[in-house]
Amino acid sequence: MKATNLAEITFLSRSANEGFARSAAACFAAQLDPTLDELGDIKTAVSEAVTNAIVHGYPNELGRVLLRLRTLPEQVLEITVRDWGVGISDVKKAREPMYTTGGVERSGMGFTIMESFTDTMKVRSTPGKGTTVTMRKKIAQRASAR
Ligand SMILES: Nc1ncnc2c1ncn2[C@@H]1O[C@H](COP(=O)(O)OP(=O)(O)OP(=O)(O)O)[C@@H](O)[C@H]1O
Ligand SMILES: [Mg+2]
Repeated sequence: MKATNLAEITFLSRSANEGFARSAAACFAAQLDPTLDELGDIKTAVSEAVTNAIVHGYPNELGRVLLRLRTLPEQVLEITVRDWGVGISDVKKAREPMYTTGGVERSGMGFTIMESFTDTMKVRSTPGKGTTVTMRKKIAQRASAR
């Protein structure tokens, strides 16, 4: 689908950048005039995807993470989070609620949260090559903007 706007940010997989990515996504999304609830959903989804890239994508090294934001026709926000890290061998399993390779510190709910806070979520991953998560969310047209 042809984007009506686009922004891309690349950052190092340091945990400090999770908040940066979340805020950047919220700032970009502001042009669609989201409600506070919608904005909260977007921030949470970005936060989960970026945390995964940082924690799981690059468990033993620092690597690059790409946040790509696009607006599509009909008030749709598309969020892509990509890493070039270890990848996921079984994406179907990884997407299941409560599946985690993160031990007791993790609850295995990240993908489930991303899925429930957006309209669509696609995960593409190749072991040894990296992971790309693409989410789309339609932002309701508000009466005041009509
Ligand atoms: N970018 C990624 N690179 C490599 N593996 C990933 C990536 N994202 C997710 N995974 C794998 O998928 C599993 C499930 O991810 P999910 O976000 O649902 O749960 P979690 O990160 O383990 O726990 P939580 O998000 O609740 O803290 C992870 O434990 C990890 O094995
Ligand atoms: Mg997670």
